[in-house]
Amino acid sequence: MDTDAVPDLNLTAALEAVSAARSPEQLAELRREYLGKRGVAARVKETIKSLSPEDRPIVGQAVSLFTAKITEALDAADAVAGPETIDESPIDLTLRGHGRKRGHMHLVTQCRRDLEDVFVSLGYQVAEGPEVESDWYNFEALNFPPGHPARAMQDTLYVDLGEPEQVLLRTHTSPVQVRVMESQTPPIYCVMPGRTYRNETLDARHSPVFHQIEGLAVDRGLTFGDLAGTIEAFTSAYFGQKVKSRLLPSYFPFTEPSAEFALSCVFCDGSGCRVCSNTGWIELGGCGMVDPNVFRSVGIDPEEFSGFAFGFGLERMPMLRYGVEPIKTFFDNDVRFLTRY
Ligand code: DAH
Repeated sequence: MDTDAVPDLNLTAALEAVSAARSPEQLAELRREYLGKRGVAARVKETIKSLSPEDRPIVGQAVSLFTAKITEALDAADAVAGPETIDESPIDLTLRGHGRKRGHMHLVTQCRRDLEDVFVSLGYQVAEGPEVESDWYNFEALNFPPGHPARAMQDTLYVDLGEPEQVLLRTHTSPVQVRVMESQTPPIYCVMPGRTYRNETLDARHSPVFHQIEGLAVDRGLTFGDLAGTIEAFTSAYFGQKVKSRLLPSYFPFTEPSAEFALSCVFCDGSGCRVCSNTGWIELGGCGMVDPNVFRSVGIDPEEFSGFAFGFGLERMPMLRYGVEPIKTFFDNDVRFLTRY
C-alpha cells in the first residue's frame, strides 16, 4: 500500500517540505498543515465514511502511513531546530537611543559663580555664613543698636523672639562681614554670597526670599576711591565696558560715609527709558567705608585699618542683563524658564 493511491496525501512532497524547513516556526506551521485538526490527514480521514467498503481500508491505511511518516520526519527535524523562539529580528545597533536630558545651573547660581570669578580674579576670597542668624550678627555688631530706627528699613522675619538672644532669618548678607572679621586678621578681601529673607510682599522686583552678594575689604590705607574703582571693575566685568557706575550719598548704620551705587541703564545706555524710569540709571546696591564702631565690635583697630563694604541683590544682575521680570520667575522653577538660560 502506498499513499500515492490517495492523491491528496502526497507524502513525497510533504517530506520534502519538512526537510526544506529552516526554522522551528516553519516546522510548527507544517505540523499544523499536515497533522493539525483541520490538516491534510484529518481532511482525508473525514472522507473515508463516504467511500465504498473496498476503498475504505485502502485510504485508511494510507492516512495512517502518511501520519506516521510525517510525524517521524517532523519530530526529527524539531530535535535539530530546537524550540520555537519569540523574535528573531536582529537588533539595529544604529538606532538612536532615548538619551537623557541634562540639567544645568540655575541662572542665580550662574550669576553667583560669574561674580565670584570676577572677585577671585581681583584677589578676593569667597565666604559663607548661616541663614538663621542672631540679632547680634544681623544688627547689633553692624551698629544697629536696639530700637535704632534703621532696623525698620529691613522688615525682619523672626524665628525666636526669646531672651537673651533673638533669632531671625538674616535680612542681608552683611552679618557674614562680622563673622569674617572675627575669624580673620586684616588684610581681608572677601565676597559673601547667599540667601536672604525679608517680611516683604511679593511684587515685580521684591520677594521675601532673595539673594545678595556682599563685599568687604579691610587693609591699611583703603579709601573711598578704592571702593569706587572696585564697583566700576566688577560691574563692567559683568555687564561690559559700556556700563558706567555712579555713587550717591546714602545712609547705612555700618558704613560712614555711605552711598548707593547705580549703573547706567543697560537697556537705553543711559538715555532714559521705561526700565530706568527715564533717569538713565538703575540702582543696584549699597556701599560705604566700614564704620569704626563695626571695627570695634570685632576687635579691629580703626586707627590702624580702614575698609570698604558693599552689598546688592544678586537677582538684580541677571534681571538687568537678560530683562527677567518679575523676580518670582527665579523661584517658580518653570522648566521653560530654566532651560532658556
Ligand atoms: N546690607 C545692605 C542691605 O541689605 C546693603 C549694604 C549696604 C551692604 C552698604 C554693605 C554696605 O556692605 O556697605 O540693604
